[in-house]
Amino acid sequence: MQYIQGIRFSKQFSEEICKVMRSWKKFCRYTVSEKQKYVYNEDRYSDAGYEIKVSNQMMDRKENFHVNLRQYSRLVEVQSSNNHEFIDRIPGIMRHLEPIIIEYAGKVERETGISGLIQEVLSSKPYWTIRYLHYLHQQNKENPDEPKKQIILAKSHIDKHGFTVHLSETEAGVEILSPDERVWQPITIDRRNIGYIMDGAQIQLRTENRKKAVVHRVVSGLNRERYSLVCFVPLIRTAMYNKSKYGSIQSCSGLVTYDLGFTEFRSYFSSVQPSRVDTQSDDNV
Ligand SMILES: [Fe+2]
Repeated sequence: MQYIQGIRFSKQFSEEICKVMRSWKKFCRYTVSEKQKYVYNEDRYSDAGYEIKVSNQMMDRKENFHVNLRQYSRLVEVQSSNNHEFIDRIPGIMRHLEPIIIEYAGKVERETGISGLIQEVLSSKPYWTIRYLHYLHQQNKENPDEPKKQIILAKSHIDKHGFTVHLSETEAGVEILSPDERVWQPITIDRRNIGYIMDGAQIQLRTENRKKAVVHRVVSGLNRERYSLVCFVPLIRTAMYNKSKYGSIQSCSGLVTYDLGFTEFRSYFSSVQPSRVDTQSDDNV
């Protein structure tokens, strides 16, 4: 069974992706106080707004911006004099994503014998979350002789949602741990507009281990900036990783393996059946 699914974008979708990426890069040059007007809000299945994380020790800077249809109106209203295409164009991006996401859900249904996944991803649409990401690793000025080694920007982890659609990146850097040979393999979005879909924790739970969440990491060279664009697809009728008990999934080393039996894997999820989630978007787009 494939663990990475390649996807080809239409010409129109590629053009949309280029526009929002240009806009995101421009936004990254704004002052932090301007960017922080887009307050970060998190709920059980999605989050939206601007976040910045700076590591003084590593001279790393990571900033991201999440947008979904559920919180789209709130983010659009923050825009006063400045309109940003990377926010405004989200409904259009979601329209292009919908057939890709439905097709993939159908493929998972056929491959694993589960049912109802297409319906579940459609019900989850208000929570599909676009993540714009910007990494900057700066050379440590106190140690200019720092060897030109690869820097780990994101340590090995699995994503907590159903699956993740990788849409754009300005630099290579994502590596996946192959389930067979257990070696790190670089994965890139190539110039022929081929992105890919990577399974997350909820798909492994939903398929009872028939599909495995892909262990991956992000590496970079020194002084390299990296911008990327992905879409997280959560499953709102499936239990979510229990963050309050186990902490951030990115730090949960127990899940960074392909070897967990299903009973043990399931123990990392909230035992509470997802309550009926309000699936109304705050914007009818
Ligand atoms: Fe990830």
